[in-house]
Amino acid sequence: MQVGGVSWRTIRVGADGWSVEVIDQRLLPHRFQVARLVSLQDAADAIRSMTVRGAPLIGATAAYGVALALRVDASDESLVEAAEILGATRPTAINLAWALDAAVAVLGTLPPDERLSAAYRHAAGLCDDDVATNSAIGEHGLALIRAAWRRRHAAGATRVNILTHCNAGWLATVDWGTALAPVYKAHAEGIPVHVWVDETRPRNQGAALTAWELGQAGIPHTVVVDSASGHLMQRGLVDLCFVGTDRTTSDGDVANKIGTYPTALAARDNGVPFYVCVPGPSIDWSLANGQDIPIEVRADSEVLGVEGVLADGSTARVRIAPTGTMALNPAFDVTPARLVTGLVTERGIAVADRRDLARLYPEMATERAGD
Ligand code: MRU
Repeated sequence: MQVGGVSWRTIRVGADGWSVEVIDQRLLPHRFQVARLVSLQDAADAIRSMTVRGAPLIGATAAYGVALALRVDASDESLVEAAEILGATRPTAINLAWALDAAVAVLGTLPPDERLSAAYRHAAGLCDDDVATNSAIGEHGLALIRAAWRRRHAAGATRVNILTHCNAGWLATVDWGTALAPVYKAHAEGIPVHVWVDETRPRNQGAALTAWELGQAGIPHTVVVDSASGHLMQRGLVDLCFVGTDRTTSDGDVANKIGTYPTALAARDNGVPFYVCVPGPSIDWSLANGQDIPIEVRADSEVLGVEGVLADGSTARVRIAPTGTMALNPAFDVTPARLVTGLVTERGIAVADRRDLARLYPEMATERAGD
């Protein structure tokens, strides 16, 4: 995607040919700054601190983290230890384990002296695949937006309204995004899209990141507080919901940023189609029930305060609750499959159930015991 007219991916190898450059997402939308990762620890810290975030980008960063570890030591022990350290950074997005399992499977069979270059090739391939996957999701989602626009236009509307939660745009992936890929494609095709952006408390990925991305692309959008989405739907102001996912089970339950579930409930109550954009690596074929997905619980300070810029441009964190107040900060929730209109994957759109997902991914579904 473009930033100030320049094409960017969220992660790339630096000009030195080995360090890894990522966009520091903690500073957006106020500052666009690249962070340089030079070690396994840097990669793990970047994921843990949310310098990088979003399930697909977490996976890509982990793949490069393995390469950085192997620069120092390419032994079996080092490979396993790197996978363990990176795998322990964040618990919910399955793309992390998927990327690490793939790296260990590919690299573990090679002699140590061939592992380093293979690790960089593997990470680069994973990134290219992510871009292609998300672009394909964009095409399938675009068909939904086209159809919605045709209906709305025939009824006299001047735009099609899409609601999204958190950031599942290009910043959360290597490029394109998942939930926003169809929006970017619709905009490029000339469909007048407008996006309602849930601010996504407590870290405000919607207000900070999704609004920034859409602004860079010139796509009309409006930030709303998370609790406004039901009201907008009641008033007929939302035509479609598109969200991403950190982990979707084989039965179609969807873990995504906290607040996704109430949005899906409001969508169901108001007859608004609720689509989840799911790249194949975000499907956990080993889990059927979404309640078995580990949910990350983050620091209570994220709830008890807010961060932003002051008039002089400096950043500040301010407390919004009384001193001593307790807070609970689950970072994700689970939307049951029954509330999901469809799963938009790179292979097409599936009903959120085991049978239809298996139709799209027969090679994965057969691996599950009991199928
Ligand atoms: O905590 P985050 O910012 O990493 O959470 C990100 C999300 O919940 C995204 O919606 C999800 O990873 C899908 S990204 C394509």
